[in-house]
Amino acid sequence: MIATPVKAELVPTQLSSKRKTVLSGVQPTGTLHIGNYIGALSVWVANQQSYRNLFMIANLHALTIPEAVKAESLRQKAREVAALYVACGIDPEQSVVFLQSDVPAHPYLAWILGCCIPLGWLERMTQYKSKASQADTVGSGLLNYPALQAADILAYRADFVPVGDDQNQHLEITRDVAQRFNHLFGEYFPLPETLNRSSGARIMGLDDPTVKMSKSLAEKHRNHAIMLLDKPNEIKRKIMSATTDSGSEVHIEDASPGVHNLLLLYETLSAQDRARVQAQFAGKGYGYLKKALVDVVVAVLQPIQSAYNDILADPQRLDDILQDGAAKANTIANKTLADVRRLVGV
Ligand code: TYM
Repeated sequence: MIATPVKAELVPTQLSSKRKTVLSGVQPTGTLHIGNYIGALSVWVANQQSYRNLFMIANLHALTIPEAVKAESLRQKAREVAALYVACGIDPEQSVVFLQSDVPAHPYLAWILGCCIPLGWLERMTQYKSKASQADTVGSGLLNYPALQAADILAYRADFVPVGDDQNQHLEITRDVAQRFNHLFGEYFPLPETLNRSSGARIMGLDDPTVKMSKSLAEKHRNHAIMLLDKPNEIKRKIMSATTDSGSEVHIEDASPGVHNLLLLYETLSAQDRARVQAQFAGKGYGYLKKALVDVVVAVLQPIQSAYNDILADPQRLDDILQDGAAKANTIANKTLADVRRLVGV
């Protein structure tokens, strides 16, 4: 087995004495997968000590497709995601972990920001277009999703938002609305910077390496994604059946999307640099690469799963973490909201 501190480059070390603020979050619409871990959570953990961190569970965003919501399951999933944050290495002593729904300033600020967003910006969002095209009824919450996400970020006047690259358009609109607010009501919001990993910001599906690994596809296709709570035999089944191509050996220069995705998973999870990974697998059979990847994934997930089980065994601790997180988040967000109310005159 390989020891696996997940590779952590990307965030510039902060030298200034005042810590910059990081905010990010996950929508609790399903169990987290290895793409969420690589693209987002591993980055949060790796850079935790350099920043003032807020990590949120975006349960209000999960209501934007209300037909898919079952109240008890949403409550459960939100706690599961919170427990996974901690199991993955988010230290509640260092980082604020909270439920979005526990901070009323988010939807309040979202209303004010929403009033500053021209309709065309919302209608252009690719996530909106794709979700709306699959829905029978499109709620206005789906259209206004970016206003709430901008509020999540701007409520803390965040400097950095570490995310996978599928979130970049949401970050662009956040900067745009911050600028528009500043223009209309006076310079107030800093413009948050998006942080994407240089490699691993977009992990593709194992069954179909032309689409992004996603929670929703994972629910429909059993071999699509490695979930953070998968057992070793499931991890093995999914990786060994991953789509490659008609060849049998790794050719680095013209690796197909499936082989490229497996190499990327190996590189990001084994904390090795690309040249070394390429040298290790060039000319080797796909089976060899897949077996090596199974070992790495199991080695990364095993300690996360054992920490997760410890957290679940102590529900009071999770309640305390979320209560404490909500109190801290409310203190910061309420201050921003008071400033914003004054600036807009309400
Ligand atoms: P969500 O829940 O879809 O995804 C959570 C995080 O995981 C990243 N991610 C991936 N990274 C690499 N490869 C993949 N295949 C992959 N799939 C997902 C996402 O980019 C994200 O960083 N709208 C957000 C939640 C949100 C949020 C926020 C994020 C609400 N408010 C404020 C940042 C700041 C979402 O649905 O992420």
